[in-house]
Amino acid sequence: MLVPTSPRTPPSPGAADLDVDAVLAKLTTQEKISLLSGIDFWHTAAVPRLGIPSIRLSDGPNGVRGTRFFNSVPSSCLPCGTAIGATFDKALAREVGHLLGDEARAKGAHVVLGPTINIQRLALGGRGFESFSEDPALSGGLAAQYCAGLDDKGIAATPKHFVCNDMEHERMAVDVLVTKRALHEIYLTPFRLALAAGHVPAIMTSYSKVNGTHASESEYLLKEVLRGSWGFDGLVMSDWFGTYSTSEAVNAGLDLEMPGAARFRGAILNHALNANKVSIRAVNDRVRNVLKLVKRAMATGIPENAPEDELNRPEDRQLLRRMAADAVVLLKNEDSILPFVPTKSVAVIGPTSRIATYCGGGSASLNPYEAVTPWEGVEAQAKVPLSFAQGVYGHQMLPLLGKSMRNENGEVGFTLRMYNDPPTGPSTPSSPDTRPLLETRHVVDANMFFIDYSHPLMNKNGVWYADAEGTFTPTESSLYDFGLAVQGTARLYVDGELLIENVENQRLGTSFLGSGTVEETGSKTLVAGQTYRILVQWGCAKTSSLKVGNMVDFGHGGMRIGACRRLSPADGIAEAVEVAKTVDQVVLCVGLGGEWETEGEDRTTMALPPNTDDLVKAVLAANPNTVVVVQSGTPVSLPWLSNAKAVLQAWYGGNQTGHGIADVVFGTVNPAGKLPLTYPLRVEDHPAHFNYRSEAGRCLYGEDVYVGYRYFDRAGIEPVFPFGHGLSYTTFTLEGLTIEKTEGNNVNVSLTVTNTGSVTGSCTVQLYVSPPTWEPRQVPVVPQRPTQELRSFEKVHDLAAGVSTQITLVLDAVRDTSYWDETQDRWCSQQGVYGIKVGQSSRDDKAVGGSLTINETTYWEGLSP
Ligand code: BGC
Repeated sequence: MLVPTSPRTPPSPGAADLDVDAVLAKLTTQEKISLLSGIDFWHTAAVPRLGIPSIRLSDGPNGVRGTRFFNSVPSSCLPCGTAIGATFDKALAREVGHLLGDEARAKGAHVVLGPTINIQRLALGGRGFESFSEDPALSGGLAAQYCAGLDDKGIAATPKHFVCNDMEHERMAVDVLVTKRALHEIYLTPFRLALAAGHVPAIMTSYSKVNGTHASESEYLLKEVLRGSWGFDGLVMSDWFGTYSTSEAVNAGLDLEMPGAARFRGAILNHALNANKVSIRAVNDRVRNVLKLVKRAMATGIPENAPEDELNRPEDRQLLRRMAADAVVLLKNEDSILPFVPTKSVAVIGPTSRIATYCGGGSASLNPYEAVTPWEGVEAQAKVPLSFAQGVYGHQMLPLLGKSMRNENGEVGFTLRMYNDPPTGPSTPSSPDTRPLLETRHVVDANMFFIDYSHPLMNKNGVWYADAEGTFTPTESSLYDFGLAVQGTARLYVDGELLIENVENQRLGTSFLGSGTVEETGSKTLVAGQTYRILVQWGCAKTSSLKVGNMVDFGHGGMRIGACRRLSPADGIAEAVEVAKTVDQVVLCVGLGGEWETEGEDRTTMALPPNTDDLVKAVLAANPNTVVVVQSGTPVSLPWLSNAKAVLQAWYGGNQTGHGIADVVFGTVNPAGKLPLTYPLRVEDHPAHFNYRSEAGRCLYGEDVYVGYRYFDRAGIEPVFPFGHGLSYTTFTLEGLTIEKTEGNNVNVSLTVTNTGSVTGSCTVQLYVSPPTWEPRQVPVVPQRPTQELRSFEKVHDLAAGVSTQITLVLDAVRDTSYWDETQDRWCSQQGVYGIKVGQSSRDDKAVGGSLTINETTYWEGLSP
């Protein structure tokens, strides 16, 4: 397929267009109803007789996966949301949109399901890595550019999840109890800012209830706020299986039920129409919004049901590498031990050093063109051979076995055979399986999620089976652990010996978005050089009696096969210490990954995986010239911090993760990332700590507007690293602040940024506004407010040593001084004198300040004053 890549690719001459109202008038009621739900996981319905094509939607948010979870076409995996947040770089966020737009074209997708712009109330959210920031202005500012970048390419963005999908626990059932003020000031603001910039044609609702009503059927959220106050005229779709009613959802304004086939629409909607529970006018309104999105999709020139293709351009690799490096936050660099010297000896140690921890888990995960490990990244730049030690493992589930297996042709991976009939026992080379085959696939990824798999000859009742078979030849003689997590049922055999049975008495775990089992394990001593036959016989989700409770039911299910050599933490740490002692410099790689941070499950602790802290302490003691590289999407505990001279927060960096890390380690790139969320000392320091799960079906957002740094500032709690923190290999000063009212509500805040160090670097300046002093007896009574709130940010790129530059940040005097007045149900910019502070973090004691006087109180509503 030819992939058009120019900005805003115009429709090809003579491309079909759609006259929305004319087509709407010609549609039969049945056709209208058909347009209001998907036909499968990723497509809308077509009405060929009126030239309405089916359009394709694809996840989002850090890549474009295309139409398959299982065996998908590889794609660009971008750094995760918090990593993009850490760049504080609007221009880069636009480039994110451009790359996603090109990838969407390659995958034949008209709509990208992203960005995710929920809020990290606590460090433990399973999907915290997907969203940009705990701060709504940073999140909304970046989201606006991300959406505009997609729009530049003609592709529709879908900010999600509207709204308050900020944790995973019972995500479909939980009732989020939140004040209107916090709802507007914190949780809705990223959406409002993104919409205000004008490039948002679609929105996805969240799974949860907000103040008593599910978001996908909330008249307040969809009718009053989104379409009413904000004037949104785009499409609203449900999250996948997040439509829970027919009439309520249609009447509130939910246009599209996803995925298909319809559960709450189709014949049931017809019935509701006949019963006058839903009016034809409401149906027409919903259909009109679908047609508008279809019209927009047609203008892309991307054909209906286009084949999916790989893009994988050299310039994208460069961009991905720049993004990965720009996202890295230099948390600490005592004695300036970084950057490391490539000609000195170096060891790469730790559980995430030879694994590319490139992406979080769940629907954000995708199959990358490549995933560069830190080891590979460091090796590419070091001028001497590297030393290595594993230290400890950091996995929750055993490492995937696929890449270590071979199929019958000797190729990397294994063979997957699909059947309609159950196995009668393990096949062997001498008595092969005789069941009629549906199909055979060559697979490498041993984490197989079949949610969108189908086969034309599959049993009508949807029950089917699969065998995964290949060989494994260990390089070391040892005891090996094998693991099998399934949504469905399965048995794992090694050379015909049943090692794991995951069929009876299954235990619900975190696999498969929280719908699968825990990983059941078995072990066997294997001999180096000997080839073993691995066979897994799996039955689809319907063969299991496991109850998935409140989790989303993702249909067919999946299987995950893992294995590795058993390594005792004591032996691994001792070996790592010996290696660390022999070198000048150590790159120690630790972190979480897509199985710790994933959909359907929140983390239970901020700690790194078991034994990791022991490894870090031991290596730091053995060689203080160590940089600890932490890869996680959200903050983790750093109990060894005072002993560490240098620490990098490297997030999930996408395809080029390892190169991005190495670029910063060796100073090829001068780090400029800033924390988009507070790094607390203890999870208990977070105000949301007591209200961070569904308790009796509800979650009280008891911290109100005091989310993230807004609470730490107000309560005077010292975080380990504050919001906005991040060091550089150079230093900057900010001076000469001027505040000038210009046209309309605009206020220019200007200052001079000087690079006072010895190398070129980029500087992020952050503008915080403080409210007038709060007095209890003030009239009119105004609520207490956060001490300071980020209202603007800019990045000065590549400022040479010794050079100064003038920078201007623009505020909207009314918008940026406002709070949500619950007594008026609208925004209020209260008269008074506001503090203006511009610094390099939220707690920068060298920040420059001034004040802004607001002469009269203004009330406003809508997207902006
Ligand atoms: C997620 C959405 C995603 C959808 C499709 C849901 O589970 O919450 O963010 O877009 O699946 O994969």
